Amino acid sequence: MQGSSLEVDIDESLAFDMLFLDSDHHYDTIINEIIRFEPLLKENGLLVLHDTVYYDGVALAVKQLMENSRFELVTLPSPRDHGINTRPPGVTVVRKIRGSKDRPNDIKFCQEFSGVEININEMRNQHEKNWLVDQNR
Ligand SMILES: C[S@@+](CC[C@H](N)C(=O)[O-])C[C@H]1O[C@@H](n2cnc3c(N)ncnc32)[C@H](O)[C@@H]1O
Repeated sequence: MQGSSLEVDIDESLAFDMLFLDSDHHYDTIINEIIRFEPLLKENGLLVLHDTVYYDGVALAVKQLMENSRFELVTLPSPRDHGINTRPPGVTVVRKIRGSKDRPNDIKFCQEFSGVEININEMRNQHEKNWLVDQNR
């Protein structure tokens, strides 16, 4: 399969063990990718999201998954920053515990998050404050 994640034809009969999402990091893109591809992930399959600490748009999609009991997840800071005094890129690994009874699924586009990519001003020196990273370590 090759092309834009939100436009490419997909074979709905496919079932994946793991999906890796790392495209343009706007909330609108990542949440629609998750809505589109998560139903193709097998139960106990892994959804790996890149740049979840650095990009607020991706972090908001992670927040929605955290609040959904069908998933368990861990977010880890990567061992580098993303420019001087910035947050690290960050990786989130999501395990799909079970499928959704709803079709297509129970993950919804959240209009209040639309347009978010990154908040540069709030990001500077916020490494310790990022809510996705365990602050007790
Ligand atoms: C952050 S980089 C990720 C690089 C990738 N992980 C790799 O190792 O090559 C984002 C890449 O995704 C592409 N991209 C952005 N939006 C996309 C979309 N909606 N569908 C497919 N690819 C997209 C960009 O052109 C860019 O090459």
